[in-house]
Amino acid sequence: MFRARAESRLTKIALVLFVSAGMMVFLGTRSDVEGQNRGKGKLTEAERQTDANAQRMLDEGKQTFRSDTFGDEAFWTDALQLHRAIAGANLGGVGPGVSPATALSVGLKVDVDALPQSLISQLKHGRVNLNDPATTLALLKLDAVVGLKGTVNGNSLQSIGITCAFCHSTVDDSFAPGIGRRLDGWANRDLNVGAITALSPNLQPVADLLGVDQATVRTVLQSWGPGKFDAELFLDGKAFRPDGKSAATLIPPAFGLAGVNLHTWTGWGSVTHWNAFVANLEMHGQGTFYDPRLNDAAKFPIAAANGFGNVRSNPDLITAKLPALQFYQLAIPAPAPPPGTFDAAAAARGATLFNGTAKCSTCHVPPIFTEPGWNMHTPAEIGIDDFQAKRSPDEHYRTSPLKGLWTHQKGGFYHDGRFATLLDVVNHYNTFFGTNLSAAQKADLVEYLKSL
Ligand code: HEC
Ligand code: HEC
Repeated sequence: MFRARAESRLTKIALVLFVSAGMMVFLGTRSDVEGQNRGKGKLTEAERQTDANAQRMLDEGKQTFRSDTFGDEAFWTDALQLHRAIAGANLGGVGPGVSPATALSVGLKVDVDALPQSLISQLKHGRVNLNDPATTLALLKLDAVVGLKGTVNGNSLQSIGITCAFCHSTVDDSFAPGIGRRLDGWANRDLNVGAITALSPNLQPVADLLGVDQATVRTVLQSWGPGKFDAELFLDGKAFRPDGKSAATLIPPAFGLAGVNLHTWTGWGSVTHWNAFVANLEMHGQGTFYDPRLNDAAKFPIAAANGFGNVRSNPDLITAKLPALQFYQLAIPAPAPPPGTFDAAAAARGATLFNGTAKCSTCHVPPIFTEPGWNMHTPAEIGIDDFQAKRSPDEHYRTSPLKGLWTHQKGGFYHDGRFATLLDVVNHYNTFFGTNLSAAQKADLVEYLKSL
């Protein structure tokens, strides 16, 4: 009797197990089928709209990043007359003009994909005069100069404007040094923004803004050097640090930024805040910008006096482009280092140090390599001076996302390039944190940084 009952209990349990296993198989199969339907393109209407929207945003954002001047010709052409210096006296401008050779020497890049096959073969055979500004005009007409938009009418350069790609793109040098395929988001550390701007025949608008003479503006621009720009100069008028060196900062990469909260060296805001800032206040495009922090007359005397905290242009050529521009930027991955550019075994040992003894990952949290959350630190926390931090609203430094470090080793590291090499960076932290790393450990850490 007892046995029979126990048996029937066992049977019941077995049955329940069997049925629930069957249910699980059934449910599992159902979701597999749904997954397959997705793969076959049988998306819900909402999913389909999202996918199409993502693709449209990418396309539009790429176009804006590469080609949009936001109407900044009003500054570079109408005010500074930079187009006249590029054309040169022979083509209706002023001075010697800018030949392709000169353009390449100040770090401008040529997009080989914009060149017709005939021109490519002429270039290959050395039949293009790279010392003639007329060739520069021809390249501008082809829209082949990365980040520079020229309107060329016959032999005359009517206007010039700059795009985001001017500073944040380079080329892969696949055709020749400075000529190749576009690499969006890479910091152009060859570009001498100051030297290019200093060519402008009329720097009076900048001189008026800063309350100095044109000669002083030229001196400041020439002090920047390659790969640097001073985004805060038009806000606070500070051109030099207390030690007499230029106050300009390095151009950072604009890739690998998804998941990163605050942007710029000093964490001014999100990507889209900064995009609006740059398009309006640095490129001098025509748009709308609101940031009441710039009304602080003690910290930002020039911005406060000129109402930069509340800019309203009509028409607004910027705001409608911000959503896709942000989307595109967040989509650009940090490029992986080419094989053979670092020692993999040493890098693996370096990773252990980075995440352990050397304490790096307390701030540079993998895989975004900055803190998820409020990624800001006082100058004292990283053992450096507060000059640049004080030029920003928050007076902190933002933990740099480290992916793709290998692409921007020119010009050094930290906001002002104060550390020439990655080993210098590691030595700084080792001294400051008192971590007592051996020479071999430091070398491992450097290999790891090169592998990111
Ligand atoms: C004249 C050169 C120049 C141009 C043009 C330029 N930028 Fe920048 N960009 C910089 C510099 C320099 C910084 C660092 C500023 C700072 O920290 O004070 C920067 C910072 C950034 C950052 C922050 C990166 C990070 O690590 O957080 C983003 C994003 C960015 N720029 C996007 C853009 C976009 C989008 C455009 C076009 C609307 C643009 N930039 C135009 C020079 C430029
Ligand atoms: C307390 C937080 C903190 C710790 C710990 C820390 N860093 Fe940083 N790191 C920062 C900040 C903030 C910056 C930006 C400095 C600046 O803007 O000048 C930075 C910048 C860097 C840069 C320069 C990036 C660039 O684009 O130029 C490198 C490289 C770097 N850190 C590596 C390391 C390594 C390696 C360690 C461990 C030995 C480490 N960091 C530990 C906060 C930290």
